[in-house]
Amino acid sequence: MQIEGSRVLITGASRGIGRDLARGFARAGADVALVARGAEALEGLAAEIGGRAYPTDLTDRDAVRGLLARVEADGPVDILVNNAGDECIGRFTEMDADTLEFIVRLNALATAELTRQVLPGMIDRGRGHVVNISSFAGIVVPPLLATYAATKAFVSHHSVNLQFELKDTPVGVTRVEIGEVDETGLMDKGRTSPELAGMFDRMYRLRASRLIRCEEITAATLDAVRDDKWSVRLPRRLSPASYLADAPRRLAWVFGRGLVEPARPRR
Ligand SMILES: NC(=O)c1ccc[n+]([C@@H]2O[C@H](COP(=O)([O-])OP(=O)(O)OC[C@H]3O[C@@H](n4cnc5c(N)ncnc54)[C@H](OP(=O)(O)O)[C@@H]3O)[C@@H](O)[C@H]2O)c1
Repeated sequence: MQIEGSRVLITGASRGIGRDLARGFARAGADVALVARGAEALEGLAAEIGGRAYPTDLTDRDAVRGLLARVEADGPVDILVNNAGDECIGRFTEMDADTLEFIVRLNALATAELTRQVLPGMIDRGRGHVVNISSFAGIVVPPLLATYAATKAFVSHHSVNLQFELKDTPVGVTRVEIGEVDETGLMDKGRTSPELAGMFDRMYRLRASRLIRCEEITAATLDAVRDDKWSVRLPRRLSPASYLADAPRRLAWVFGRGLVEPARPRR
């Protein structure tokens, strides 16, 4: 799908991967709608790259329910990038109820709900793309990240299901599965845990993975939207795990062929 001239809604745009994606889409000629809680950071970025800020807490049920209407009052959204996310490190048995709800609401529920809001308009207009930022944590089940990993498995699984539902429409879905990313909030948080830091260091020493940069994700994501690719996997050396996880998902498609009518415009 053509990025130039498209309107792109990016969540978690105030820093880290989301900020780099916002800059990348703006450079490619898109009009960006920026979402996160931090109004000041969003306004600063909007002033730098153009576009508009829509400060929102994505764990606030009512704010999320009205978000697309608020953004689309300024024009339809052609591309949705579900990037906002957070993690909580530690044993599940030591997690408190508020943190559990926060992580599930932000990583899983807000992603699905925004996608639910945006898809009918995209199908009606005959163009659109959804990008879901997931993680290899959704495949490999790292220790001390039980809930985070489960929400990312939700995002990956959900993306594949949507690809099936939308396969005969002009609307695409890209799932982005990534390892540890340099200069991001989640990397800083992960590195406060000696256990997780040790796990990553062992993976790097054995060349099972490597640290990636935001710019690599942005470049690969923009290409995926342009070429309507289903997946971005970075670093490539982790991708066999993703292919293995996809095999049974796609097997269900073979048996389910004909069960789902292609999504159609409402008029
Ligand atoms: N960094 C990594 O190593 C890594 C690896 C795999 C996957 N990922 C995924 O990549 C995505 C971005 O990660 P990152 O490391 O770039 O994160 P980050 O630097 O911590 O940035 C997180 C973004 O999400 C926003 N956000 C957090 N809570 C929010 C809320 N309640 N409502 C609205 N916005 C909220 C933050 O803005 P405010 O605080 O202003 O709200 C910020 O813009 C996440 O989905 C993460 O799971 C990251």
